[in-house]
Amino acid sequence: MKSWRFHEFGHIGNLQMEEIDVPLLAQGEVLIKMEYAGLNPADRFLIMGRYQGASEPPYAVGRDGCGEVVKAAADAQFNIGDKVIFTSATVGINREGTLAEYVAIPEEGVALLPEWWSPADGAAGTKVFMTCWQALSDAADLKPDETVVVTGASGGIGLASLALAKAMGANTIALTRSAQKYERLLKSGADYVCETNDPHVVRKIMDLGGGDVIIDVVGGEFLAKCIEMTNTFGRICIVGALGGVNCEINPVQIIFKRLQIHGMQVSMYKAVEAQQALKDLLKVLMPTKARLLIDKIFPFDQVQEAFEHMRRGPMGKVIVGPIGDEK
Ligand SMILES: NC(=O)c1ccc[n+]([C@@H]2O[C@H](COP(=O)([O-])OP(=O)(O)OC[C@H]3O[C@@H](n4cnc5c(N)ncnc54)[C@H](OP(=O)(O)O)[C@@H]3O)[C@@H](O)[C@H]2O)c1
Repeated sequence: MKSWRFHEFGHIGNLQMEEIDVPLLAQGEVLIKMEYAGLNPADRFLIMGRYQGASEPPYAVGRDGCGEVVKAAADAQFNIGDKVIFTSATVGINREGTLAEYVAIPEEGVALLPEWWSPADGAAGTKVFMTCWQALSDAADLKPDETVVVTGASGGIGLASLALAKAMGANTIALTRSAQKYERLLKSGADYVCETNDPHVVRKIMDLGGGDVIIDVVGGEFLAKCIEMTNTFGRICIVGALGGVNCEINPVQIIFKRLQIHGMQVSMYKAVEAQQALKDLLKVLMPTKARLLIDKIFPFDQVQEAFEHMRRGPMGKVIVGPIGDEK
């Protein structure tokens, strides 16, 4: 079978398509024939050797995907032909990932594809929605009518945060670096849109009532602005640090506003917690039938081009597939 694997940490170009054997099943595992795999920025950081807790290569990256169960033990909870998505915290990090034609995985690491998602939606949305659930529900305990400010709003985490926050009854303010994305963000669940690099961004957000919850993927110096734009008793959920890792912050603002600052890590959900988180978040999303916007689907043999496209900051997710259709 074809699999996108790397043998050494370093350049993203180390990821190459290889021909390897279809995996054999260990006890409790199911074999998935992959249809679509979703890319995440963390896959790139992992190959570069910048992802804490990643196993030594070689293996395929890819932590998101959707495929069909083609082999399972007689007493498995899944049937042959079931379409499943990946909740596993180890796939593509500590074991072979989803950028492959087949994946063997413990059955506790997959869940049935929700009926209103296509296989492509499942590859695009699962891990980002689970991360945003960890932030908005587990960490921030978001209440209806509170305001959520979302940075990097046009990305996977940004769009999932907007959709989930709206489904939870909150107001939303999207922050983007790109004025061309305003209209599409308003259509994707943002009540207001502001520009991340606007020198008056804090005042503009305070004029809109400030943020009760901030979902931040930018980090760096922007974290100081997040603290400024948060209301008293606000919660800041740090999901990523795309803009850098160093920041000068004023602890007095955190003290006087009684702020909570949370670090998010979706791969720290234990298997049962991940299953429960997915179940709970889908219950919240079901009335809105929300799915994640897909920017572009690349053929399976163009994974490098897909990573490069994601690096440029598209509007929505980048996925590859249908897998197995390439000549
Ligand atoms: N902690 C966790 O468990 C967890 C889970 C998933 C993802 N993450 C991390 O969260 C971050 C975002 O993930 P994602 O899936 O949303 O990525 P994505 O789809 O690539 O989107 C990121 C968005 O952030 C903005 N952006 C990109 N580079 C930036 C920069 N240098 N400075 C400021 N803004 C920038 C862009 O939006 P605009 O053009 O709209 O500004 C971009 O679309 C990544 O670092 C990822 O590794 C963490």
